Amino acid sequence: MEDKEILEGRQGEVLERDQNEGSNASKKLYIESYGCQMNFSDSEVVASIMNENGFATTRDVDEADVVLINTCSIRDNAEKRVRNRLTEFKKKKEDNPEMVVGILGCMAERLKKSLLEQEKLVDLVAGPDAYRDLPNLIEEVGTGQKAVNVLLSRDETYADISPVRLDKGGISAFVTIMRGCDNMCSFCVVPFTRGRERSRDPKTIVDECKDLFDKGYREVTLLGQNVDSYRWNITNKGAIKDENLPTVNFAELLVMVAEVSPELRVRFSTSHPKDMTNDVLHAMASNENICNYIHLPVQSGHTDVLKRMNRGYSREWYLERIEAIHKIIPDCAVSTDIISGFCGETDEEHKDTLSLMDIVAFDFAYMFKYSERPKTLAERKFEDDVPEEIKSKRLTEIIDKQLTFSLASNKTRIGKIERVLVEGDSKRSDQHMSGRTGRNSMVVFPKGNFSKGDYINVEIQDCTSATLLGVAVDNDSE
Ligand code: SAH
Ligand code: SF4
Ligand code: F3S
Repeated sequence: MEDKEILEGRQGEVLERDQNEGSNASKKLYIESYGCQMNFSDSEVVASIMNENGFATTRDVDEADVVLINTCSIRDNAEKRVRNRLTEFKKKKEDNPEMVVGILGCMAERLKKSLLEQEKLVDLVAGPDAYRDLPNLIEEVGTGQKAVNVLLSRDETYADISPVRLDKGGISAFVTIMRGCDNMCSFCVVPFTRGRERSRDPKTIVDECKDLFDKGYREVTLLGQNVDSYRWNITNKGAIKDENLPTVNFAELLVMVAEVSPELRVRFSTSHPKDMTNDVLHAMASNENICNYIHLPVQSGHTDVLKRMNRGYSREWYLERIEAIHKIIPDCAVSTDIISGFCGETDEEHKDTLSLMDIVAFDFAYMFKYSERPKTLAERKFEDDVPEEIKSKRLTEIIDKQLTFSLASNKTRIGKIERVLVEGDSKRSDQHMSGRTGRNSMVVFPKGNFSKGDYINVEIQDCTSATLLGVAVDNDSE
């Protein structure tokens, strides 16, 4: 029952606003993104590359010369969703044969040419490290050739590209600090679709954050599959990891970004329990604008399952990291990812996931049924032997438990004054605005004389498991 899954990211989101920044923009690009925040961030890099080459972005697929779909392979249902969408685009192409349809991202990397040749769903295939080649690939399609570039790179970070921001608000932006992943968790397709891990030059990261702040942004989220292994060797430009050279690590990078302005909130995702250092926690504790929120995926509460998952930590290690968070950063919110029904998972092992949830009391969680992915270690080594209905039953138990903890977490905020960064009008009511607390809770409050990007104090009066409700208090601009 996929509708029970709580999915990450903003699935299938199209542009929130049209962009016409390219002075010579004469053609139109429509881009749609699926999957994780990294994909949304990549789509902004793609828009920038296309912009430089004469394409303005549009929200209307019917006026597009080029349609790009940036895809995710993390679970089978993510790919199914994209296939349905590609079939719809194929139909549109029958009416408009000139329209170029391309697939980008993780599914492009995983399936390579087969989408072009066997399935004939698209004209163009470009993997995550091949976006600079898009203008050439589009030209190739124009001359009737098959256009594929799925080469993975050891050093591409798109560091010099200034992304075209496609978000609605102009307040909060994603900034990619590293690409790829070297971890090889046995269930995960990402190392195959994103290639080797590489870090981006910290100077270009800080410059991008400064530029965002100058343009009115008040929040950045630093992105990487495992931000704790961010490492930049100053002299060899990050190309080779050499422990003897001076380096910038993640804790240091966080402080560099936090120093852009005390008015710029800094978030990051994703931390890895095996690598998260106390230095990062101390950096958070001593810089007020680094938000008190950590996403620390646990995946399972049982050490044997974690071993089969090749996660590199035990239940005890994870619990110790949680203790360290609460000791070093008072009032830090913690969220997680959990997979139900991984290969060989027994009832006992599943119960240990529930018992770990009882101990940690996560503020929020993303919860998934295990979905076997081709080529992964788990596919080669283990049998996907937990029956579908057991996976679903366990997932339901996990979700039900989490909902009670999410509600309990929100209830503890009632009566408190929270500092909220105003993001804009509430989605549900034009009489209300919404914003987030440092702990990443969404707050809805009656409209006052506030603008997007203001920091205001809100007294929390009520809540649901997903949202805090309150009224603005003691604010100058009211
Ligand atoms: N780099 C991050 C997460 C990347 S994928 C990390 O290491 O935590 C996001 C989440 O998707 C994972 O944390 C995991 O919970 C889930 N996931 C990944 N592969 C999956 C699979 N094959 N089946 C079900 N869920 C999966
Ligand atoms: Fe996948 Fe593990 Fe890398 Fe996360 S750390 S992207 S789960 S291999
Ligand atoms: Fe999906 Fe690729 Fe992200 S598989 S979760 S889009 S890294």
